[in-house]
Amino acid sequence: MEQAIAQAAAALAQADALWIGAGAGMGVDSGLPDFRGNEGFWRAYPPFARRGLSFVQVANPRWFDVDPELAWGFYGHRLALYRQATPHQGFALLSRWAARLRHGAFVFTSNIDGHFQRAGFAADRLVECHGSLGWLQCARACSPALWPTGALELDVDGVTFRARPPLPACPRCGGMARPNVLMFGDERWISVRSEQQEAAQLEWLGRLRGARLVLIECGAGTAVPVVRWTAEGLARRWGGRLIRINPREASGPADAITLECGALEGLHALAEALGEAGLPRHGGEETGATRARAEEASAQRLRGPTALFSLCSEAQLPAASRRSRRRAWRRASAASSAKSVR
Ligand SMILES: NC(=O)c1ccc[n+]([C@@H]2O[C@H](COP(=O)([O-])OP(=O)(O)OC[C@H]3O[C@@H](n4cnc5c(N)ncnc54)[C@H](O)[C@@H]3O)[C@@H](O)[C@H]2O)c1
Ligand SMILES: [Zn+2]
Repeated sequence: MEQAIAQAAAALAQADALWIGAGAGMGVDSGLPDFRGNEGFWRAYPPFARRGLSFVQVANPRWFDVDPELAWGFYGHRLALYRQATPHQGFALLSRWAARLRHGAFVFTSNIDGHFQRAGFAADRLVECHGSLGWLQCARACSPALWPTGALELDVDGVTFRARPPLPACPRCGGMARPNVLMFGDERWISVRSEQQEAAQLEWLGRLRGARLVLIECGAGTAVPVVRWTAEGLARRWGGRLIRINPREASGPADAITLECGALEGLHALAEALGEAGLPRHGGEETGATRARAEEASAQRLRGPTALFSLCSEAQLPAASRRSRRRAWRRASAASSAKSVR
């Protein structure tokens, strides 16, 4: 692994821009469970083991219709868990490196825990491709509105993992509200927020002409491989160097640098290899009118359409990422469709 770390550090030391991809494994060193296989999921949620329900079966929007106390028990518990956890030091290392690069960093994560924002990453430099627990929507999608989860707390029974009423309601139709998170077999997820974030990512990538891009992917699994596919695709298309950090699923394209270890350990090792001097200083991120204009444009996009009861359009999402997200989701859903939700 030493050679891989030296290679990764060398690539990072010459980078102008950093793309960060993160899956559930990124949160493991902050004390959060990943949902690797039924065993991993059931260890985290024993009541579902007793009922023989897998992650794919529980993370299904139908529960908000047929058993909202179960649905909110699961998501309410995760909300509290993610709030209580503190993002580990690897987030701070990434953020420190990003601050020194001419083009800074852009984050792409399937995590719904908001930990990158809590670690100080800018909200307009981030794609949450599976949505976020920080936002709510109508479970029936009676309108495309999203509203912030804010300080919402669910009263979740510690043994049954069921939430006790009152449960969050849609301010428009009075029906059940749900997190704005993409679930399995989810026809009602309102994707406008993620689409706007993906448009901002494309804009950032478009500004990298001639820049040296490094991609660090941490803890992205193979079961729902959106983060892995995105990382590999971007590395190919933008000619960037991919560094994949994963203790169990580190394999990747031949030209990727793979660190077979946890995210915190891998990022620490990289920091050490970079030494005191760390990354070269480019005088910080790009400044001036171009950057200010781009930031204002993306802030406007993020402000406008996510406001309560605003309109959204699927067409805003770049076709390639729409297709890749749906393909990955269909594959994962198909793998589990033998067992229907009860
Ligand atoms: N924190 C969260 O928001 C969270 C947590 C669990 C699952 N999810 C959701 O579950 C779905 C599945 O996600 P996934 O495919 O990324 O998860 P997964 O659970 O299938 O895979 C996790 C990956 O992390 C790796 N890993 C385990 N420990 C690690 C560590 N210490 N450091 C780095 N990597 C480690 C595993 O080898 C695996 O490849 C996604 O939609 C995701 O949104 C989110
Ligand atoms: Zn409604």
